[in-house]
Amino acid sequence: MAPLLEVEDLRVEFGRGPETASVLNGVSYHVDEGETLAVLGESGSGKSVTAQTVMGILDLPPGRITGGAVRFRGEELLGADPERRRLLRGESMAMIFQDALSALNPVYTVGFQIAEQFRFRRGLSRRDATARAVEMLDQVRIPNAKQRVKEYPHQFSGGMRQRAMIAMSLALDPELLIADEPTTALDVTVQAQIMDLLDELRRERGMGLVLITHDLGVVAEVADRIAVMYAGRVVEHADAATLYARPGHPYTRGLMDSVPRVDDVAGAPLRPIPGLPPSLAAIPDGCPFHPRCAHAVDRCVTEVPALRELGGDHQAACHFAERFVAEGTDRPTTHEVVSG
Ligand SMILES: Nc1ncnc2c1ncn2[C@@H]1O[C@H](COP(=O)(O)OP(=O)(O)OP(=O)(O)O)[C@@H](O)[C@H]1O
Ligand SMILES: [Mg+2]
Repeated sequence: MAPLLEVEDLRVEFGRGPETASVLNGVSYHVDEGETLAVLGESGSGKSVTAQTVMGILDLPPGRITGGAVRFRGEELLGADPERRRLLRGESMAMIFQDALSALNPVYTVGFQIAEQFRFRRGLSRRDATARAVEMLDQVRIPNAKQRVKEYPHQFSGGMRQRAMIAMSLALDPELLIADEPTTALDVTVQAQIMDLLDELRRERGMGLVLITHDLGVVAEVADRIAVMYAGRVVEHADAATLYARPGHPYTRGLMDSVPRVDDVAGAPLRPIPGLPPSLAAIPDGCPFHPRCAHAVDRCVTEVPALRELGGDHQAACHFAERFVAEGTDRPTTHEVVSG
């Protein structure tokens, strides 16, 4: 059976002529029903552009889709009728954004904004739609929903606003939810609560979830599988436990070393990955990560590494992936990372 969502060899450019930036250089990932895929990578690696292309909300122009496929339950979406895309958005696939405050309209009550979808997409009366909005606020565990539904976004805390955004995205009962950095603007405790909520809602609804983040720590507990992006490519993919224990790409290792660990000595310095991601207008020859890689040799400068199969649905785009997998890490398993 076809996966819920399948992105295959997706290519997107911005700009023209010498200014052209290849933002996606062959992104592939898939999400099955009811599972959570985390998409991880530094700023600018193409996580959001991929999500926007999947949702059909990428600005074209300046963006240009130059290749690849996006399939929802086997149906090709690139080039599909705009009316079909509009129907799928909300009904079948929904997305929540990093900044809930700017995504909510300040002049309407939270309830009105949720109710709108029931009115316009389901034809409910204003009163029935408001009742459904209260139910949605309840579902995202907003206390006193009957009262809260009448309030404006500025009367909600950051965490509550993000919950309201989640309620809005789930109103039409989508089968796939893409959450683009849903917790970056929140403090650590609230981040964990929102992650738990998303995880519970996924389970209750049997929904597929794509969790976009630059923070490995945030998704450690909830991700089934993880796709690591670098310079517009997926450079490693594995189930979460494998990725933690036996990363095959030095970049993945670097991401792990830059995340605080529960067993770190208090105050021990984190080791950020040296250097910066490449300019997408001038991606280096060979392995795009080689200028920052402590293990790079001549071959890495000249030859682009293909994704290598490492067994058990684990792939990494490094010439020496097998060696790194065999070495493993001294780090605890996912479960230990989370629970200590
Ligand atoms: N509308 C646009 N016009 C031109 N370039 C764009 C546009 N949108 C995105 N880009 C470029 O595409 C690249 C990938 O951006 P994207 O937003 O997907 O990164 P990201 O991985 O989501 O990063 P972040 O963690 O910062 O959200 C960046 O270099 C960005 O500057
Ligand atoms: Mg982004």
